[in-house]
Amino acid sequence: MKESQLKELLESLTLEEKICQLVQLSGDFYAADAMAVGPQQKLGISEKVVDNAGSILNVLGADKIRRIQSEYLEKSRHKIPLLFMSDIIYGYRTIYPIPLGLGATWNPELVKECSRLTAKEACAAGAHVTFAPMVDLVRDARWGRCMESTGEDTYLNCQFAKAMVEGLQGELKPGEGIASCVKHFAAYGGAEAGREYNTVDMSERRLREEYLPSYRAAVDAGCEMVMTSFNTVDEIPATGNRWLMDQVLRKEWGFDGVIITDYAAIQEMTAHGVAADDREAARLAIEAGVDIDMKTPCYANQLKPLIEDGEISEELVDKAVWRILKLKNKLGLFEDPYRAASAEREKELLVCDRHRAQARKAAGEALVLLKNENHILPLKKKGQKIALVGPYSDSSNLIGLWAVHGKTEDVVTIKAAMEEVLEPGTLSCAQGCGMLEDYAFLGGFARAEKSGEKPLSKEQAEAELAKALEAVRNADVVVMTLGEHMMQSGEGGSRTDIRLPEIQRRFFDRITAEGKPVVLIVFNGRPLVLTEESQKAAAVLEAWYPGTEGGHAIADVLFGEVNPSGRLTMSFPRTVGQAPLYYNGFNTGRPVKTSIHSGRFMSKYLDCPNDPLYSFGYGLSYHETAYSDLTVSAASFTSGEKLTVSVNVKNTGVVAGLETVQLYLRDLVGSVVRPVKELKGFQKIWLEAGEKKTVSFTIGEELLKFHTKDMSFCAEPGKFQVFVGKNAEDVLEGEFEFQ
Ligand code: BGC
Repeated sequence: MKESQLKELLESLTLEEKICQLVQLSGDFYAADAMAVGPQQKLGISEKVVDNAGSILNVLGADKIRRIQSEYLEKSRHKIPLLFMSDIIYGYRTIYPIPLGLGATWNPELVKECSRLTAKEACAAGAHVTFAPMVDLVRDARWGRCMESTGEDTYLNCQFAKAMVEGLQGELKPGEGIASCVKHFAAYGGAEAGREYNTVDMSERRLREEYLPSYRAAVDAGCEMVMTSFNTVDEIPATGNRWLMDQVLRKEWGFDGVIITDYAAIQEMTAHGVAADDREAARLAIEAGVDIDMKTPCYANQLKPLIEDGEISEELVDKAVWRILKLKNKLGLFEDPYRAASAEREKELLVCDRHRAQARKAAGEALVLLKNENHILPLKKKGQKIALVGPYSDSSNLIGLWAVHGKTEDVVTIKAAMEEVLEPGTLSCAQGCGMLEDYAFLGGFARAEKSGEKPLSKEQAEAELAKALEAVRNADVVVMTLGEHMMQSGEGGSRTDIRLPEIQRRFFDRITAEGKPVVLIVFNGRPLVLTEESQKAAAVLEAWYPGTEGGHAIADVLFGEVNPSGRLTMSFPRTVGQAPLYYNGFNTGRPVKTSIHSGRFMSKYLDCPNDPLYSFGYGLSYHETAYSDLTVSAASFTSGEKLTVSVNVKNTGVVAGLETVQLYLRDLVGSVVRPVKELKGFQKIWLEAGEKKTVSFTIGEELLKFHTKDMSFCAEPGKFQVFVGKNAEDVLEGEFEFQ
């Protein structure tokens, strides 16, 4: 539709119709059987609002979408199609690794391709917008939504934000791309004490320097929508935070797309205590520039009286509707309201071989080898008896909590994948112990709610343990699969104890007591405390929730078809008491290594080292690498010039593999304190066995910029340290000066 026609359409709408465009309802309002009445009464909105709402949340499937859209349009006076939005976070039906795993690939191109294929499947199923990517920076492993983030680093998160938006949207062609909604703006991952929905409070400098850039990267990549976060920013809930939405997002960053709230976030402003009632909450949100109210009656019921009483101008509503209409138009909905929704395309695309192959590749790169004593891995395919024990061994729950449209029946389990590789009779498998002793505390959520899991009875538990012990006693090597229950991470999944569940720790101790070498594979949506397990196990492989092809990917790595290359993007603490833990903190006045003080009076704990068990950037491969000869092309440089930092990297092992060469900088003296290290670049390179490559990074003024004392974003003259290495701790060091 031409812009002039769109304008005419806007002008032809009544105030009520315009307001309805700003309302998003969930699919139950449009269920085939009970047309709206129950949910409508519950929410307290009129039938007219249901008949005219602008968008729908989390209902997908080509046939369903087509039915709802056609029924809606039939009734509609203005014939503006509904927008279908959904949480398609790391795959639609083909599920890729959780984002924390995708981050561990350090491969934005690969992740972009996963997002592109996700969009194709989602298009077929009728999605127009996905609530992804989530780009919240996370530093606290207690927070359940670590799983949805690519980690603790600003630079890396920006690369992934861009890759995901570009992959999801493409050129927004029907059948190819869907609109991306970056979330949760802003700083949702900074929740105090890692407690879900908790207060976020930080300096504006930290917000701008560390937390905001990843949202900005998504906006710069062209994402069409932004979701507000549940938390406060400077003690004002983001959803009513005019400074954040209007000043920063719209004016400074030039974002002219749609802003949607997170689930019920407008109404929650009353619980926050900044609005007395729905009416005040609606006013705060519309004044902040929020366009769509997700799942509350605030906009539906309050905007009209607010306008009629002269408290807000109708122009605010017009602006919001205009942005929504523009998006609908951009998606081509006025030409084809069903867009690419097609049952045939679903059949052809969902979990097709091409997508499975991509999921296997992505999961293979996401796995992080944390320990590999005496090269116990890779395992031999022949001449070795293997016991596969633990609750994840034959489980199809490898897709994690937020794979809303994924199906466990599509999943290849580890047992099935290992059987494909091994000779009959060489693998024995036993669950060995239950996942948890109690499931009730998890609360219900989507697919997990229906799973109906319950603890093993005493007899079952004894029988399982006996079976596992027998398998272990007859085996040469044990592969043990342990992990969090998938519902222990994700939204509402904050934990104060981030070790493996107790029942599994007991099982681990019982099995390791048998004295056989144990390869431990862990499944989790956050960094876990693996301090004890990492001492006793011969090898530890971090698997996250690896997705539909998780079993194959794990078998690929176990048997050496794939040389692991994943690198952590969140630090793994030694104990939960270290949280929040991240590599790029400040030095403090009393740093342990270089303080003028000694003994007690330094920045440290009495009972635990400061450093993590496994640092940011860490991960092993089946080859080893040696870094040497770090050179900096000049001792100093100035604005407009560039420096080159080079290093030689040699594969000293006997197999070829990928190496992620990481570049970090430290600004030694700033007008404000600067991090001890900041990632500023990386290259993932392929090295044949014995091969040596020189890897170079270019450093220009841009890389040195930060928010200085007066909040200007610029580089300050002075000395810098440069580090290149395998991870944030294992680096070579050089220096230069910026003049
Ligand atoms: C989550 C969002 C999600 C939304 C819609 C909220 O509870 O915080 O990430 O997109 O629900 O399902």
